[in-house]
Amino acid sequence: MDKLLVRGGQRLDGEIHASGAKNAALPALIASLLADSPLQVGNIPHLRDITTTLELLQHLGASVQVDEKLAIQVDASQLRVLRAPYKLVRTMRASILVLGPLLARFGEAEVSLPGGCAIGSRPVNLHIKGLEMMGAEVDIAGGYIRARVPGGRLQGARILFDTSTVTGTENLMMAATLAEGVTVLENTAREPEVVDLARCLVSMGAKIEGAGSDIIRIQGVRKLHGAVHHVIPDRIEAATYLVAAAVTRGRIRVRGVKALFLDAVIGKLREAGASVDVAADGVELRMPDAPIQAVDIRTAPFPAFPTDMQAQFVLLNSIAHGTATITETVFDNRFMHVQELQRMGAQIEIRGNTVFVHGVDHLSGAQVMATDLRASACLVLAGLVAEGETAIDRIYHIDRGYESIEEKLTQCGAHIRRIPAPPAAISVAG
Ligand code: EPU
Repeated sequence: MDKLLVRGGQRLDGEIHASGAKNAALPALIASLLADSPLQVGNIPHLRDITTTLELLQHLGASVQVDEKLAIQVDASQLRVLRAPYKLVRTMRASILVLGPLLARFGEAEVSLPGGCAIGSRPVNLHIKGLEMMGAEVDIAGGYIRARVPGGRLQGARILFDTSTVTGTENLMMAATLAEGVTVLENTAREPEVVDLARCLVSMGAKIEGAGSDIIRIQGVRKLHGAVHHVIPDRIEAATYLVAAAVTRGRIRVRGVKALFLDAVIGKLREAGASVDVAADGVELRMPDAPIQAVDIRTAPFPAFPTDMQAQFVLLNSIAHGTATITETVFDNRFMHVQELQRMGAQIEIRGNTVFVHGVDHLSGAQVMATDLRASACLVLAGLVAEGETAIDRIYHIDRGYESIEEKLTQCGAHIRRIPAPPAAISVAG
């Protein structure tokens, strides 16, 4: 497995272009399953999760083409298979998003249960319950969700989510586009990625109102067609680089990102002492030489502070002046990075779903292990500020969600390099 070696101590200074948002690109590509002609999706980041999604779409029988501008065209007009196997779902939970579209268009689908996850239990009960309310019969056996619609077509329904769920909202919104009648989804996720998917579906002929609010109304149509869609920039990637500038007392301008999506994060960065300028084409952060101030955080669904930035702010608080609490309310086990930061000298206590972070003068480079995507980003940031060298193992997690992270940070002055895994030993049978 590849490793990243980070030598700390450089103030970052430079400009980074935000990539397309992973969590908007995945559902947009999967939306192609609803259409009877090709969907073209642009601004797709080059990431491991995108490759997995394309493998899954091809497994189902879709044909995939990448053009010279790296836009991806998916033609799902002729699908052969209506089953998402464990080997693909296991590596990427977002694969559950094929359930709604397949069921809506073909009246049947089989998707492996995603299984355990490093950041908590992450059930999909709300996806299933919603589809059942739309008339699907769902049976869970042998690790698979097997669903069919007796009359062939899902029926519009009024569905109230117990909890705000991003992929749950996306799955049911996609299913409802081809259902008979009107579906009203309540207590829906308001994340920009949900709005982006709605925009994509509308350009494919869907009738959707209210995306971005907590009630979405979908009038089902008989067919959807292909379209051209350009995904929004990645707000979490952008915010991670702004934190990199803050913790290294540097300056970074992230181009392409919409500041509107980052209100909660920018507010906390300013509270920590950063000067943040917002312009139409991006956001620039400068950190003055004064100590970083510790900031209290409580994660919650959009527009509140995103759980996907929690690990990065645990790191920021680790080297800040004072003590702060960070409470994780979205996932039940998302503090795996804490143990690794402690190995670098951070003083953090975990009590239930809250961490108490007592800022220290410095962190020391160490050998650490990435446990999930955002935890890996936190460890890279820790390496940038630590004294000496940090070696981050299991870096494949970061390749799931950060496009060219070494190149982007290196162009701002970071000392970071990838050490490829040694080739596997060849065993010679005697
Ligand atoms: N939940 C249920 N039942 C369900 C669905 C969700 O109890 O059927 C619970 C979850 O266990 C969790 C909460 O609801 O406690 C919210 O989870 P949500 O469904 O919103 O998460 P998700 O859709 O699985 C997406 C992102 C995550 C991001 C979360 C929260 C994608 C592909 N993934 O996950 O992104 O953390 O929303 O914003 O969009 C990442 O990019 O690193 C990442 C993990």
